[in-house]
Amino acid sequence: MEAGPGDEDLIRVAALARQRAYAPYSKYRVGAAVRTKRNKIYSGANVENASYGLTVCAERCAVWSAVAAGETKDYDAIAIVIDDDQLPTPCGACRQVIAEFSPSLRVVLATTGGQRKITTLTALLPDPFLPGNLS
Ligand code: THU
Repeated sequence: MEAGPGDEDLIRVAALARQRAYAPYSKYRVGAAVRTKRNKIYSGANVENASYGLTVCAERCAVWSAVAAGETKDYDAIAIVIDDDQLPTPCGACRQVIAEFSPSLRVVLATTGGQRKITTLTALLPDPFLPGNLS
């Protein structure tokens, strides 16, 4: 997919959030930022724990920040940023959590070194389990 006009701004916010990652165990620091169609941005970073399994990824942190602010629909994009020589890819749990609110969200993958890839949640998680499956 093509880069969009707001992508670089969203990447910048995610990169700032990444600086606040708490990743003393893996040292793998991730930043994420969700933008809504009304141009509000909510960011997050991964937060690890000495009890390793309690770790939360940056993407879920960003989505939960949006939800905690009352934003549960009309998401426009999520940017995910790492400082690595390969692009990030959201884990399966995060794909499912994003799908709950925006199953076809635009996903902007970036490295601090300038690599970019634009994809969609539809491509990353086809046929998700959604609230409608429960009715
Ligand atoms: N992590 C994320 O924040 N997002 C991903 O998409 C993959 C993994 C975090 C979790 C953990 O803190 C570290 O990266 C290594 O798995």
